[in-house]
Amino acid sequence: RMEVGKLHTGCEEFDELMGGGIETQSITEMYGEFGSGKTQIAHQLAVNTQLPKEMGGLDGSVIIIDTENTFRPERIEQMVAGLSQKFEQDFDPAEFLKNIHVARAYNSNHQILLVDAAMEMANKLKNTDKPVRLVIVDSLTAHFRAEYVGRGTLADRQQKLNKHLHDLQRFGDLNNASVIVTNQVMSKPDAFFGDPTRPIGGHILGHTATFRLYIRKSKGDKRIVKLVDSPCLPDGEAVACITTDGLCD
Ligand code: GTP
Ligand code: MG
Repeated sequence: RMEVGKLHTGCEEFDELMGGGIETQSITEMYGEFGSGKTQIAHQLAVNTQLPKEMGGLDGSVIIIDTENTFRPERIEQMVAGLSQKFEQDFDPAEFLKNIHVARAYNSNHQILLVDAAMEMANKLKNTDKPVRLVIVDSLTAHFRAEYVGRGTLADRQQKLNKHLHDLQRFGDLNNASVIVTNQVMSKPDAFFGDPTRPIGGHILGHTATFRLYIRKSKGDKRIVKLVDSPCLPDGEAVACITTDGLCD
């Protein structure tokens, strides 16, 4: 077993909440309502992963399985500019973009298949200077939610999601990579989904994701990140800011 890596988020409180950073060989689920910042944080992690270890990165490249067409190269460029300022270095945004491999998933079956494609790409990059160290599935649940509607199909959906998460865990283990998945939840109690702090995917997701982060909006740029039901870390909250330069204290 390879040594677990810790990916810095750009926000010290957030890193501390996670026991030093987002772990490799684990699935970290970010859930929260529309606009809470899940995709923004995912973009930041796609940038940070590429940094050398002494700067809090994993010295690796990134695969994004994009199910909602929300990947924004311009946003990556802004965040790289933010890092150039922070570390007083001239990082090349084009270089960072080159190391983020984005695949669009058109439906839930395609999304599941893309993990196999990700594994192939990771194998190709394994012995290069930028092995894959992060895979992001944003959103994990949107296609499943759209396709599996109604009571009779819930068990099916759970079974598929469970397999998908199992594949992702395996990817993380084999590549010493972090796995980030996002999951939108409703802020208001909803007749179908029930408790807003209990995202769809319910118990299966709860047991598979090693770290579960509930993200919510606070004043202005501020976001509250809450670690929920972690098996190895105390529950707690961190405040992070989303600015033009990216995620910060
Ligand atoms: P869903 O995917 O709809 O569930 O939402 P999400 O949780 O992925 O939200 P997302 O990460 O897309 O957050 C959108 C919010 O991030 C916006 O409402 C802004 O508050 C903030 N944001 C996005 N882009 C920028 C930017 O360039 N600069 C700043 N300062 N904030 C931004
Ligand atoms: Mg999003």
